[in-house]
Amino acid sequence: CGCWPSSLSKLSIPDLHNPFDSFSILQELALQPKDDIVDRTKMEDTLKRRFFYDQAFAIYGGVSGLYDFGPVGCALKNNILQVWRQHFIQEEQILEIDCTMLTPEPVLKTSGHVDKFADYMVKDVKNGECFRADHLLKAHLQKLMSDKKCTSEKKSEMEGVITQMDNYTQQELADLFVQYNIGNSFRNEISPRSGLIRVREFTMAEIEHFVDPNEKVHSKFSSVADLEIMLYSSKAQTSGQSAQIMKLGDAVEQGIINNSVLGYFVGRIYLYLIKVGVAKDKLRFRQHMDNEMAHYACDCWDAETKTSYGWIEIVGCADRSCYDLLCHARATKVPLVLPSLTASHKVVNVVQFEPNKGAIGKAYKKDAKFAMEYLAICDECYITGQEKLLNENGEFTIETEGKTFKLTKDMVNVKRFQKTLHVEEVVPNVIEPSFGIGRIMYSIFEHTFRIREGDEQRTYFSFPATVAPYKCSVLPLSQNQEFMPFVRELSEALTRNGVSHKVDDSSGSIGRRYARTDEIGVAFGITIDFDTVNKTPHTATLRDRDSMRQIRAEVSELPEIVRDLANGAITWTEVESKYPIFEGQETSKKETVEE
Ligand SMILES: *[C@@H]1O[C@H](CO)[C@@H](O)[C@H](O)[C@H]1NC(C)=O
Ligand SMILES: *[C@@H]1O[C@H](CO)[C@@H](O)[C@H](O)[C@H]1NC(C)=O
Repeated sequence: CGCWPSSLSKLSIPDLHNPFDSFSILQELALQPKDDIVDRTKMEDTLKRRFFYDQAFAIYGGVSGLYDFGPVGCALKNNILQVWRQHFIQEEQILEIDCTMLTPEPVLKTSGHVDKFADYMVKDVKNGECFRADHLLKAHLQKLMSDKKCTSEKKSEMEGVITQMDNYTQQELADLFVQYNIGNSFRNEISPRSGLIRVREFTMAEIEHFVDPNEKVHSKFSSVADLEIMLYSSKAQTSGQSAQIMKLGDAVEQGIINNSVLGYFVGRIYLYLIKVGVAKDKLRFRQHMDNEMAHYACDCWDAETKTSYGWIEIVGCADRSCYDLLCHARATKVPLVLPSLTASHKVVNVVQFEPNKGAIGKAYKKDAKFAMEYLAICDECYITGQEKLLNENGEFTIETEGKTFKLTKDMVNVKRFQKTLHVEEVVPNVIEPSFGIGRIMYSIFEHTFRIREGDEQRTYFSFPATVAPYKCSVLPLSQNQEFMPFVRELSEALTRNGVSHKVDDSSGSIGRRYARTDEIGVAFGITIDFDTVNKTPHTATLRDRDSMRQIRAEVSELPEIVRDLANGAITWTEVESKYPIFEGQETSKKETVEE
């Protein structure tokens, strides 16, 4: 395609969205084996104590749903975005744009957000606190279901309600609240709070990939066709089957994924998430069911990760067909089209409205011309949709020039014919991968959080080196001044090589300092000891965080080794095979804990 813009922008959710959350969390907690769940208390303690992030305005008591990132969290987030840019923008040569957060209402009206992105809220009339009705009900039902006295019959009834949750009308929801007694007593206990997953403001990275609707094929699909990915198709969901590991190529061939352009992005998203530290076996792609998907969308797959909160949506990947461009083109009368790549001489099927001027004129007098103008610029996708309404209901309505026109069967019908074209313009279809960066980050936290075997006190994040907040620490064995020139030399050389690092020359034992840098996920550590100072050539040790194994290499070589490790050019195994293994320094575990 000629034009592949993308945007990377910070979205604040205005109050016309629900203020809590625009995603929904699937309720599969009960299905998870216990040992698979991260020790969340321990993990959150680390995140807070080392200031990955914390509640905003904490000294004022904090505001739920608003967070500030600290130095380690910022570094990690920046790296996640940096890898995103490399993986998507550079790889596909996408054109990047950075959009404003604020959007005028008519745009959101046209896009459908005003009418459709609305959720029912319930308000505590005493203290004014508001909750999303479906979330509150869901949480309450889960609480009831976890009660030992709850019969299996009652349980499956409540499960049914949870499945239908998105589908209820206002009245039905209100009735359910009465049916299941939601009283004040439950309110504080179950108010939804789930860290970085439910936030009011978040960074979203979004790609708009435009494609000719007549050529919905991706030339690079073969590069991802062999990936084996856990897919949870809508068919599997409605028939009660489980998700299935499938080759992406097979999924597209069998029509489970609608087309290879969408399939290509599913594959690329998968590769990205694995690269930044999401665990393969806790990642699946779930297809939207018909009732979830907007009527105009062809197909939609969400990347979901398994966390202690259940499966959560972290990336959406939708084929939104031509709907958005058509709506905005219609509302603004600015054509949003591309020259077609496929046609120079081509017989095309034309679909047009054929208005009955007399009937429309009679009904709308001098305003009739606005309806006529409107009908003349509609495209196939839209016409087909309205035709369906015309057949089912005998009418449809349009809005233009601030007026509403009800059009019935005697006023308009749809005409189809063939025509030979020389140059053709098309309204491109758009494939829209949309990334919630905070949720990706949260999934990485849960999936990489580790406790050292045999030592409950020592925890660490096993971040892939590419996203680790710091690639390397530089640690003098003690505060002896003889080490300092080497610390400075290494630090300067690391900076020259673009390796983010942290010098820790505090007085703790070396084991204690390793533990401290492991805790924030620093990938490698260089230690300067007496051999560094006393022997030539000057060497120092390099330690791998996950295995805690060390090698010894010349001080002059180390910055480049770390750089290559950090950008994935070499692996730790390769480093171990090239340099002598070093044992020592991190003597006993005891020393580490005691400090
Ligand atoms: C949603 O409601 C409609 C109409 O009541 C019903 O036909 C449909 O099965 C419901 N969908 C789900 C997923 O329950
Ligand atoms: C893909 O989506 C289009 C539009 O909704 C539909 O017409 C087509 O049948 C779908 N293809 C497959 C293989 O499902």
